[in-house]
Amino acid sequence: MNKMQKQVLITGVTGGIGSEIAHVFLEDGHSVYGVSRSKDLPKDLEDHQNFIYQSVDISSSENVERLFGSVSVNFDLIINCAGILKLKSLENTNSKDWQDTIDTNLSGSFYIAKYGTEHFLERSTKGMFIFIGSRWGVSGSPKDPAYAASKAGLRGMVKSLQSDGLNTGIRYILLSPGSVLTEMSLSVDKDVQEDILHPKDIADLTLHLSGTPSRVIFDEISIKAFPYDFINA
Ligand SMILES: NC(=O)c1ccc[n+]([C@@H]2O[C@H](COP(=O)([O-])OP(=O)(O)OC[C@H]3O[C@@H](n4cnc5c(N)ncnc54)[C@H](OP(=O)(O)O)[C@@H]3O)[C@@H](O)[C@H]2O)c1
Repeated sequence: MNKMQKQVLITGVTGGIGSEIAHVFLEDGHSVYGVSRSKDLPKDLEDHQNFIYQSVDISSSENVERLFGSVSVNFDLIINCAGILKLKSLENTNSKDWQDTIDTNLSGSFYIAKYGTEHFLERSTKGMFIFIGSRWGVSGSPKDPAYAASKAGLRGMVKSLQSDGLNTGIRYILLSPGSVLTEMSLSVDKDVQEDILHPKDIADLTLHLSGTPSRVIFDEISIKAFPYDFINA
């Protein structure tokens, strides 16, 4: 039996985790529609014939509405991976830092959920969302209260939407990683080593989740580096 080729929307596709997710889905034979703010098509993905890129800032409701209005693709899966981390303590966080972080990480996720759900409903697609949260959304962190608040808010939103999905068959999943080896984690600890999670660990997990039968729902998934995230909680 031929495996179904999925149409996958990935936000944050130029980032460490988002680009790896794109590679894993492309290598598995799916089509990827990638989004981030950068004007340029990501170099490492431009050669893939099943990859389309659009520059979109998801912190604007109008932009996200326009994105879903402009695509001719019928998505099966939406992975919201775009996010920012300013790594500022309360003392160093000004109101713009706070607003920027909430605008992208929380409001951007809301716009993706809202217009993405409309996209699925218009096509009667029992689609799936995977939202990339963070362990700091559960534990909090004095290193960046705005980031932790944005991811905690995301967690609350996704858990709320899961009940909505009972009526529509749409599945909303929160995937909260610990430390993953990307520019973002290097900004937290420039000495992090190979023993933290690799982007491929997250990418492989998203591919697995996308293949689960529609009767299966994951309340929330936490993936941590062992033992790094236990020692550096
Ligand atoms: N790395 C970690 O240790 C870690 C741990 C837990 C959770 N996470 C989460 O995982 C996700 C990916 O992180 P990463 O490590 O891959 O970070 P990254 O390398 O900094 O990538 C972030 C991505 O988000 C995009 N982006 C940022 N703001 C955007 C906006 N307003 N609209 C559209 N795209 C936007 C960036 O591209 P542009 O700048 O071109 O827009 C980039 O593609 C984030 O949500 C992050 O919070 C990461």
